[in-house]
Amino acid sequence: AGPERNADLRALIRTIPDFPKPGIAFRDITTLLLSPAGVATCIERMAAAVDGPVDLVAGIEARGFLFAAALAVPLRAGVLLIRKDGKLPGATIAEDYALEYGQDRIAIHADALVPGARVLLVDDLIATGGTARAALRLLRKAGGVVTQAQFVVDLPDLGGADRLRDDGITVHALVD
Ligand code: PRP
Ligand code: ADE
Repeated sequence: AGPERNADLRALIRTIPDFPKPGIAFRDITTLLLSPAGVATCIERMAAAVDGPVDLVAGIEARGFLFAAALAVPLRAGVLLIRKDGKLPGATIAEDYALEYGQDRIAIHADALVPGARVLLVDDLIATGGTARAALRLLRKAGGVVTQAQFVVDLPDLGGADRLRDDGITVHALVD
């Protein structure tokens, strides 16, 4: 028999106080990833929540890559890497953004998308939404059609999911 696909995801996520900065309660999904049932439950629930056909699953470095790649398999979609700036070898477009504990810049290859491609945005977690909204701007600039985003964890007090909804995105998360 395969792994049980009804794991208690909330119980598998641990909280590390004061990481990476004092005052931040870091929601650590490495403990969820160690669980075969946890991984299977995540991917199965995310796949079930996808609305309509998807050409590409866009994952955000680094933890978003894990879920994007696994989800692309049942969706029969490709994987688009949204990387921290300076890592992609070809011509890129980039966006700056603020996050809960800092400031960063992400990029995609300028030619990663056929205009009109249907893209599902995926990350492990949404907090302020700074990262996901910068990713959305990039994907739309490159000609992608983005209508939905999926996360393992939403921190609703930080408002990111609501901001992403204001950008016209259907947002789905497995754990609040
Ligand atoms: C974390 C998380 C999201 C982002 C969410 O990534 O994986 O990408 O923060 O925060 P926001 O909604 O406030 O933008 P981080 O930048 O720590 O990078 P990592 O995955 O490479 O560790
Ligand atoms: N990314 C932004 N805020 C976070 C948090 N509190 N825990 C884990 N990842 C995060």
